[in-house]
Amino acid sequence: MGVMPEGQPGPLDGIGAIGLDHVGIAVRDLESAIERYRTALGSPPAHRERMGSDGVDEALFRVGDSYIQLLAATGPDTPVGRFLERRGEGVHHVGYRVSDVAAAIDRLRALGVPVVDERPRPGSRGTTVAFVHPRGFGGVLVELVQEPKGES
Ligand code: CO
Repeated sequence: MGVMPEGQPGPLDGIGAIGLDHVGIAVRDLESAIERYRTALGSPPAHRERMGSDGVDEALFRVGDSYIQLLAATGPDTPVGRFLERRGEGVHHVGYRVSDVAAAIDRLRALGVPVVDERPRPGSRGTTVAFVHPRGFGGVLVELVQEPKGES
């Protein structure tokens, strides 16, 4: 790993992804989307939450160690509302699970990858998250997700 001091992550370590946390999918009508996914995946949502500060209502379906996250906008003038207006329903972002969001942000900035959130902030399920600009990931909005302490 080059000449970095032992134990110190270098730029080549990137975000240090330890898993795919979730794929976020923007939907217009959360209830009907939940019914479609409940039927297709054969299980009910594992978690539901309204993140008012983000302007989203979400439902999480567990798939192995990861989630499918259905996202509906709480209004038109929200990030997901504007996405739906511009692009329609579909994949909105990819969430990578990392052990330390703050360290991942630092490493991305050192690599010149633009971040949306300069600092970690609260996500759903008690997670800590930060969004990264699509420019660094082939046009896909990326979310870094750190599980609550005591979970993996
Ligand atoms: Co997400």
